[in-house]
Amino acid sequence: MGWNDWYQYGCQVSDQIVRANASAMVKSGMKAAGYTYVNIDDCWQGQRDAKGFIHPNDRFANMKELGDYIHSLGLKFGIYSSPGPKTCAGYEGSYGHEQQDADTYAGWGVDFLKYDWCSASKVYQPDQMQAAYRKMYEAIRSTGRPMVFSLCQYGLETVWRWGASVGGNMWRTTDDIGGDYNRVSLFGFQQNGLAKFAVHGHWNDPDILQVGLGHLNHEEQLTQMSLWCLLAAPLLAGNDLTKMTEETLQILTNPEVLAVDQDPDGVQGYRVSQEGPLEIWAKPLSGNAILVGLFNRSESAVRMEIPFKALGMNGPLQGRDLWQRKDLGVLQEHFFDEVPRHGVVLIKLKASSGKSGS
Ligand code: GAL
Repeated sequence: MGWNDWYQYGCQVSDQIVRANASAMVKSGMKAAGYTYVNIDDCWQGQRDAKGFIHPNDRFANMKELGDYIHSLGLKFGIYSSPGPKTCAGYEGSYGHEQQDADTYAGWGVDFLKYDWCSASKVYQPDQMQAAYRKMYEAIRSTGRPMVFSLCQYGLETVWRWGASVGGNMWRTTDDIGGDYNRVSLFGFQQNGLAKFAVHGHWNDPDILQVGLGHLNHEEQLTQMSLWCLLAAPLLAGNDLTKMTEETLQILTNPEVLAVDQDPDGVQGYRVSQEGPLEIWAKPLSGNAILVGLFNRSESAVRMEIPFKALGMNGPLQGRDLWQRKDLGVLQEHFFDEVPRHGVVLIKLKASSGKSGS
């Protein structure tokens, strides 16, 4: 769990912006809720010196001092590069400098590297992609500093099948998600079937949360957050943490919702059923519980129902609505509710010995 600057700041990102957001992560309660990584995306790079060492551009004074500041807040420091000669925004990539860059990052105290394919397609064939990622993984390893290795190549070459074997701790399964509900839901609901590739330390990554960025309404934001938690996805907030509304903060920090994303069993969810734009997803949780999301992708509110036998469970079950933070009592054979347009009802069910309820 953490934060990435890309969708809010793009190539305007600077030392000052990163520090302000790191500090806001603590002050706002995001850190207390579990958010830890402060990740700089593209556009921090300057030039290489005569010996080939990479330096930040003039929006960043000193990367080691920035890392020290982030660490002083009890947070972790993330950075970004490409296996190609240039990043997607045209800044210096790591091609031909992999070990040198990994050593530099380790010296700066980096804890996380997002490695974005970009111009690598100009110097490598698709069948060399795995070797290009493995090369950086080996380089990181040889520094002796643990770093989360985040693969970003937009889900090409069925990356979920080999991401872990090249040292990936997470791998993007989709193209860039930035945009409105159509894009977020298109990518999010496409994730079905990838559950078996997600295990502890190696996760499918459907990209950055769009909560608080202004393109999704309230229900649509709950949809992304709920689906990402069902998917056991990495949660990287993408908004300006220094100016969050109370609504944004509540969505990003609901403890019961975050707990199911971070469930110790680490199982990714799956689609239970689909009826046109109505989708029901489930995710097994520790303690014999199950998370269920009733998603309505249609243009008006719809009553949706989940019979417990579709989950392979028998009632009675105890229900809890995680967004309303309300107990639903003992439910006998099914649960139903009205789900708003583009919205979700997210419930946790667990075995109950009670006899009453519907
Ligand atoms: C894209 C990547 C984005 C962002 C951007 C920066 O390729 O998917 O997440 O990192 O490059 O230029």
